[in-house]
Amino acid sequence: MITPAVALLATLAVQAAPDSAGATLYRAWCASCHGADGRGQAARQTQLSVRPADLTECQTSTAETEERWLGIVREGGAAFGLSLDMPAFRYGATPEQLRAVVRYIRSLCGERGWPPGELNFPRAFLAEKAYPENEVVTSLHGSEQEYIYERRLGRRAQLEASARTVLDSLDRPFDGVTGALKYNVWYSTVRRALVTVGVEGTPPLGRQEAWEIEPFIAAGANPLAGLFVQAEVVGAWEDGEGVSGFSYSVGVGREVGRFTPMLEVGGTVPRAGEATVSLVPQVRVQLSRLGHVAGSLGVELPACAPEPRYPRLTAFLLWDYGDAGLFRGW
Ligand code: HEC
Repeated sequence: MITPAVALLATLAVQAAPDSAGATLYRAWCASCHGADGRGQAARQTQLSVRPADLTECQTSTAETEERWLGIVREGGAAFGLSLDMPAFRYGATPEQLRAVVRYIRSLCGERGWPPGELNFPRAFLAEKAYPENEVVTSLHGSEQEYIYERRLGRRAQLEASARTVLDSLDRPFDGVTGALKYNVWYSTVRRALVTVGVEGTPPLGRQEAWEIEPFIAAGANPLAGLFVQAEVVGAWEDGEGVSGFSYSVGVGREVGRFTPMLEVGGTVPRAGEATVSLVPQVRVQLSRLGHVAGSLGVELPACAPEPRYPRLTAFLLWDYGDAGLFRGW
């Protein structure tokens, strides 16, 4: 007769199997370069042209998807524009072994509370990303330009600083600066969703005449394989005026190889005056082989507006500097 304790032990053994198999494979195949503990301190290190990343670093191992590391281990570093020293394991290993060893190295972080890279959805034009990032972005919206610096703080927070310019008929192109802080309040690997709250502050500089404070809530979800949804609601409070209104956006997208077509709907609801609604069809393109440099091109189409408004070009270029240097990974 199988007692509950034996059944439990059997279940635990089955659950532990991939990990212990992964650990054994790691020691046999990877430890010579990545070090017995995954920190990259290995006997062969002196012979390598690039020092392997510290696989135990949570920020490194959680920010990317399992598929991405699986790709590097299967195809080798060179397929992603990384060093040739990272070999391809597809000839000598089964897909199950590759997954086991990648799950093992992803478990080396050993800390809870780091949102997984599976929830790091591609940046949309209107909705703020819910995932905290290390990124530099420059964006274009009609005649307006924005230069954004984002820095991740620990597991769930991110600081952001941005400056804006406008190239129009006025001779003062400097539009203003904004600082922001956001915090991922909830994520679920099972529900494949995350929610982040934050606040933006814009001082009276450039063309901005009064302090503006904008609290926001941003969310992302991956309800169906390959398909993701991102949304944001932003409130606006202006010094002297009080609450001046809110804006919202919701978009869907799907990754197709290097391209991610997305459709966003965004609107503004001012406290006084008429609301506007726009559609923003856009395509995000992965530019570097590693995927840490990407661009996006789209158009904002006014769908409902009080005054005549015209289509405006939307575009951005981003570099995920937390992932790799600008000139690596091509
Ligand atoms: C011959 C040495 C060598 C062996 C063996 C090796 N690697 Fe690597 N690996 C490297 C080097 C060097 C890099 C860094 C490449 C770069 O950044 O250009 C690397 C990078 C990686 C990365 C990418 C890390 C990142 O930050 O993006 C992963 C994942 C990885 N290795 C996993 C493994 C696994 C799993 C194994 C065993 C199945 C393995 N490696 C075996 C040398 C090796």
